Amino acid sequence: MRSVEQRRDELKAVYREASGCTRCPQLAATRQTVAFGSGTADADLMFVGEAPGANEDKQGVPFVGQAGKLLDQLLGEIGLTRADVFVVNVLKCRPPGNRDPLPQEIDNCQDYLFRQLELIEPRVVCTLGNFATKLLRKDPSTGITKLHGREEERVIGPRAVRLYPIYHPAAALYTRSLLDTLRADFSRLPELLALDPPAQPEPPREPEPVVPVPEQVEEIEAARVIEHEAPETQLGLF
Ligand code: URA
Repeated sequence: MRSVEQRRDELKAVYREASGCTRCPQLAATRQTVAFGSGTADADLMFVGEAPGANEDKQGVPFVGQAGKLLDQLLGEIGLTRADVFVVNVLKCRPPGNRDPLPQEIDNCQDYLFRQLELIEPRVVCTLGNFATKLLRKDPSTGITKLHGREEERVIGPRAVRLYPIYHPAAALYTRSLLDTLRADFSRLPELLALDPPAQPEPPREPEPVVPVPEQVEEIEAARVIEHEAPETQLGLF
């Protein structure tokens, strides 16, 4: 069991690692910042969007443009603010011209998302739109039109969460008729947050500790050095 402080520190380390990421050469070459995520490091509710747009790329914070304003408004309508939740995207870097994330990019980036989920330990994970929903449900053939507003318990990495797919706020900006549906789905979030947390799977057995020989100690210490330093203001961590 890690304390909140340990999880927060590990999250910051993942953030620093992601800030220097070059796994997707095109995105690394064209981005201004890495929009890792923002909010409260041990939030009960986490939102997962698609990828940063132009504003997010500039500020290094997810959902600060038009879709973000709608997200803030919908949160306000259920009595929450951005400081009560944690907001991330499937991709941490902006795809040029806001094109769709490529399968290879999703593959390269998903480890950051899974580590965020493991460290933040949300009870409810609200996926915004198709990309996040398909990735976290591991089912590329079932889309948001069928799944929105239906919560289900899912084991993601080592933890069970309530997964709650809803439409992406940007879709509601383009297609106004979706706004009512999005609002109705959003209004169920307090009810989901009030439920008991889902039963957790048995943790894997700890392996027997191996005592390192002296040369290995040096290697381990060297591996701990994080080369890239990123400004933590971008993390917007509460
Ligand atoms: N759309 C997203 O999916 N994420 C953002 O951060 C902004 C717009």
